[in-house]
Amino acid sequence: MESRRAIKTAIGKIILIGEHAVVYGEPSIAIPFPGVSIKTTICETIGPVILECYYYRGRLSDSPKAVLGLKKVIEGVTESFNEKLENFSIHIASTIPPARGMGSSAAVAISTIRALYEFFNRTLTENELLKWAHESEKVVHGSPSGIDAAVVGGERPLYYRKGMPFVPFKINLDAYLVVGDTGREGQTREAVEGVRQFIESKPDEGMELIKELGNLTRLARKSIEDKDAEKLGKAMFKAHIILDKLGVSNDKLNFLVSKALDCGALGAKLTGGGRGGCMIALADDRKKANYISQCLLSSGAKNTWINRLGDDLVGS
Ligand code: MEV
Repeated sequence: MESRRAIKTAIGKIILIGEHAVVYGEPSIAIPFPGVSIKTTICETIGPVILECYYYRGRLSDSPKAVLGLKKVIEGVTESFNEKLENFSIHIASTIPPARGMGSSAAVAISTIRALYEFFNRTLTENELLKWAHESEKVVHGSPSGIDAAVVGGERPLYYRKGMPFVPFKINLDAYLVVGDTGREGQTREAVEGVRQFIESKPDEGMELIKELGNLTRLARKSIEDKDAEKLGKAMFKAHIILDKLGVSNDKLNFLVSKALDCGALGAKLTGGGRGGCMIALADDRKKANYISQCLLSSGAKNTWINRLGDDLVGS
């Protein structure tokens, strides 16, 4: 008899603008990023649950801190089905560089939740998917706004505000997004904590910067609706300067952002938690995007990806 098996995937995400401010109730725009993805395979076995992923290979019960969010979800989902936590293995393959602001933790949780539901033959609603993904994100990031799980789970661009109904957001701009990986792991949890401390020590200045970020996201939304890539680029770079003031950029991110601008980007900024991870640059056509990508690679970026910022975002 063939052993049971379930295979599910999830794609990455890019925050176009509004990261960190979104934790304080300001809006943020995020897009799915199908250039990178996670694949979870669950197979029927005999014995304890074995986990194989980037950070760890071994018994689930002995997992290190780095995979605690995932462990919590695997245990929680299995228990919620009244199934035993044994006799299966979970293998996670990834093309999302870990801890680079591309949503790898949310995508690992989401592909695994999908695979568990399939393996145990249960129906998964979007609400349940987001509830479990949020449980994992809480362990990984401390106090997540929920944007990563929402955009990775929904696989559509979102104009997102914490605690508000999701607003799917049509993006069809004749422009290209270049993503550049610094090659250094970002520190979302520490960066979120750093911003909290900044606000605690300088409440007026801190909240002013957060509000400015929110206004830039509103401006970015209007620029996208007006199909004005130049205005969007300017808003992106202004957001980067504020994120730097809040202490979530670093030298390498600032260097790659400057290089992208020197090479003709309409705007550039860090993306996601910061303090490492990735930056993004906006280019007005494919040729310019290729050129910016080459500039970034020759300036020390570990990898780059290019995506049209349009309706063909998913699956392009
Ligand atoms: C991380 O991708 C985005 C942050 O705004 C944190 C969050 O929203 O949970 C930095």
